[in-house]
Amino acid sequence: MKLVIDQQRLASQIEALAEFSDAEAPAVTRVVFTPADLKARAWMKACCADAGLMVRTDPVGNTFARWSGADAEAPVVGTGSHIDAIPNAGKYDGVVGVLGGLEAIRALQGAGFRPKHSIELLVFTSEEPTRFGIGCLGSRLLSGTLSADAARKLTDKDGSSLEEVRRQAGISGDLEQVTLPTGYYKAFVELHIEQGPVLEREQVPLGVVERIAAPASLRLTVEGAGGHAGGVLMRERRDALCAAAELILALESTARTSKSLDTVATVGICDVFPGAINSIPAKVCLGIDIRDTDLPRRDGVMRALEQACRAIEASRGVAIRCRVLNADAPAICSPAVIAALRQACEKHGFRSLAMTSRAYHDSLFISRIAPAAMLFIPCRDGYSHRPEEYASVEDIARGALVLAETLATLAA
Ligand code: GLV
Ligand code: MN
Ligand code: MN
Repeated sequence: MKLVIDQQRLASQIEALAEFSDAEAPAVTRVVFTPADLKARAWMKACCADAGLMVRTDPVGNTFARWSGADAEAPVVGTGSHIDAIPNAGKYDGVVGVLGGLEAIRALQGAGFRPKHSIELLVFTSEEPTRFGIGCLGSRLLSGTLSADAARKLTDKDGSSLEEVRRQAGISGDLEQVTLPTGYYKAFVELHIEQGPVLEREQVPLGVVERIAAPASLRLTVEGAGGHAGGVLMRERRDALCAAAELILALESTARTSKSLDTVATVGICDVFPGAINSIPAKVCLGIDIRDTDLPRRDGVMRALEQACRAIEASRGVAIRCRVLNADAPAICSPAVIAALRQACEKHGFRSLAMTSRAYHDSLFISRIAPAAMLFIPCRDGYSHRPEEYASVEDIARGALVLAETLATLAA
């Protein structure tokens, strides 16, 4: 079987998809169910149809593009990723796994391969938490990790519910129907940029992911007392932003002093109310992301944050409420899929590195219902979630080639 990846088509499709964006190039912003995302989805479906795939969309907008296997009843071999992008992101996060996955299928078709198991490209809805505050929305529902009821309660910052937003986007059906039947997948493989510096630094072209770190997201509200920036004396203040600042630094210090480099904590959202230069902040909302490869250690950071909250409440006279949006367990990838990936690397003479993914991915949830693993390619300087994110077309094509070989093994 001679697998050929069309680098030119891959490169031009990546550029074309990046055009659907609410940010000025090279940045990409494509938040789920915005007009940019809807246009990108329509374009993506047309690309899949053009490759002769049967396209269907489930009630949360997860899009499946199937190449039917000889045994239509046999469990599916899946691949895919996401095309939504956080504000001011780059072109490659998720996109490489979707367009690289499509290109892998095209390479298998071109080589005359006939799968026994159907091979399906999956474009997950809202891997990014930007709009509804929770990442991997599509894969959480597919895997039954998030109930339809809980999903129906999700709202965006304008108060629009997921129900309203998806229906406005023309997506109907019952969210209950999203969960995949048991045994749907034989295997699932996600191609992705590393989003870190290891492969580039080690000069190894591919990473075979063995575990995916455990992420947690929290929404924290600090309530103090507002007032006139001139009128209220310093000693009488209960400034919510100063309390939040202390909390942010306490969290940073906990993560920095962890025994493991795998412990990371980020406060990526800080909304200040009322947000006027001459008004003491009365209320602050923080969006907090805490991750680790080790669940007890990640939970330990969450407990330390809780203790810091109580101490700061006492010392500053503020009230702090903390809501855990998600606290997920790490995933251990499937030894069988890992072996198929390693063999595919070896077959093509590529070195590969066993890796841990510190970023989360839809594979974190798919691994709960299917044997799953991931293939990483390098990205320049490890940059991701910023416009400078870059992966060379050679690296992406190499990933797509190994993905194609792996899909062939799994679908034979
Ligand atoms: C996914 O985008 C993540 O934040 O890890
Ligand atoms: Mn991302
Ligand atoms: Mn991603």
